[in-house]
Amino acid sequence: MRAGRTPDVNGKPKRGLELDRVVLLGRTFEEYLRFFALDWEKWRGRDVLDVASGVSSFCAEANLLGGRVTACDPIYTMTPETLRPACERDLDHVLASIGGLAVYRWEFYKNATTLRGYRERAFRRFLEDFQAHPDGRYVPGAFPALPFPDRTFELSLVSYLLFVYNDHFDLEFHRAALIELMRVTRGEARIYPLVTFEGDRCPHLDALRSDPAMREFRFEEIPTDFEFLVGSNAYLRISR
Ligand SMILES: C[S@@+](CC[C@H](N)C(=O)[O-])C[C@H]1O[C@@H](n2cnc3c(N)ncnc32)[C@H](O)[C@@H]1O
Repeated sequence: MRAGRTPDVNGKPKRGLELDRVVLLGRTFEEYLRFFALDWEKWRGRDVLDVASGVSSFCAEANLLGGRVTACDPIYTMTPETLRPACERDLDHVLASIGGLAVYRWEFYKNATTLRGYRERAFRRFLEDFQAHPDGRYVPGAFPALPFPDRTFELSLVSYLLFVYNDHFDLEFHRAALIELMRVTRGEARIYPLVTFEGDRCPHLDALRSDPAMREFRFEEIPTDFEFLVGSNAYLRISR
């Protein structure tokens, strides 16, 4: 994992965070509400899926608030004892790298200490809940093949995996992931953010909008009032 500002393969200086793998960083329920402009009263009693949920506390907090949320991530085969030091290591690394980068807007978090507070709360709440619910709330699984029957969920969310990690996942992976996401969704899917770690619009997004394999789906970009990574003030809603 490397911090930004090193030249990319074209010799262009990098503006954003460079990660050599997908990191174990988790967001809170409050952040998910902002990312996806979620009206919790509307979704509380419905079946919601969070894919690539990792060490986010969205599932834990939402279920405490009367939600019916299932979380799915490949890391759920691991034990809490193994996950805890991995979360701490990734958080330290990202926070040490993020400070001077010009691709972040600090209106919401204000400073690195507050940001760390959100990330620590997220992984601590996640770890407690993960330990307390070894019963199907946290389901091991990964794109492009999710372990759920067709149309199980009314709403499916993906935060900080698709589009943003475009250096790691190619167009073909994204196409397969969206088709799979919509297979398990009977209502709508929401994906956030739509920009890469460089703050650029992910090129896969426009490629997929016009992809014949997506013709049965409707793509809408919904603006929000939350922005940390520059340009991240919108989510993608996919419906049939
Ligand atoms: C940066 S974390 C985001 C966690 C959470 N969604 C959030 O925003 O707080 C990315 C997560 O994607 C998971 N991941 C990696 N490859 C995946 C795949 N092929 N399918 C689903 N999840 C994957 C990782 O295990 C990690 O937990």
